[in-house]
Amino acid sequence: MTEENVAEAARISAACLKEAWSEDTCRAQLKNPHDHTLIAYIDGAAAGFLSCWCIAGEAEINNICVLPDYRRKGIARAMFERIFAEIPDAECWVLEVRESNSAAIALYENLGFAAVGVRKDFYDDPQENAVIMTKE
Ligand SMILES: CC(C)(COP(=O)(O)OP(=O)(O)OC[C@H]1O[C@@H](n2cnc3c(N)ncnc32)[C@H](O)[C@@H]1OP(=O)(O)O)[C@@H](O)C(=O)NCCC(=O)NCCS
Repeated sequence: MTEENVAEAARISAACLKEAWSEDTCRAQLKNPHDHTLIAYIDGAAAGFLSCWCIAGEAEINNICVLPDYRRKGIARAMFERIFAEIPDAECWVLEVRESNSAAIALYENLGFAAVGVRKDFYDDPQENAVIMTKE
């Protein structure tokens, strides 16, 4: 993501997530020295984005989404493979996901993440537990 395409990330986020990131939030990531945000393009069209921070060897996936028309084509997997390659010295990868989000949980398990804990009632609207998943 760059200054030129922050609006694309915000648009994808708004189309996919309840807790969407605004354009200002996306732009603020660019000033964060720990940030790695990717936007995936298919034939020139922005289709997905992934945001990650890596601090002291721990890489946290903050957000990942793919527009509905582009799902199940390997885009999320491709963004993960790219971010794993971009931060080769990360010792541990961590993320949180709604307990009911079976598509995302299947993706993460497919990539080698495993559930290590639960944050009770972490999400609002609807209230729901978060599953904490990590990958060494
Ligand atoms: C979760 C999400 C990012 C997956 O993106 P995607 O580009 O469709 O995922 P991929 O095509 O790379 O899928 C890779 C693997 O993940 C698993 N997977 C992905 N979506 C799945 C689904 N709906 N059901 C079951 N397994 C799924 C499969 O194992 C898949 O491999 P396969 O297609 O060879 O079976 C997408 O569904 C999305 O944007 N959801 C809404 C936003 C969201 O929930 N983000 C996560 C917040 S924690």
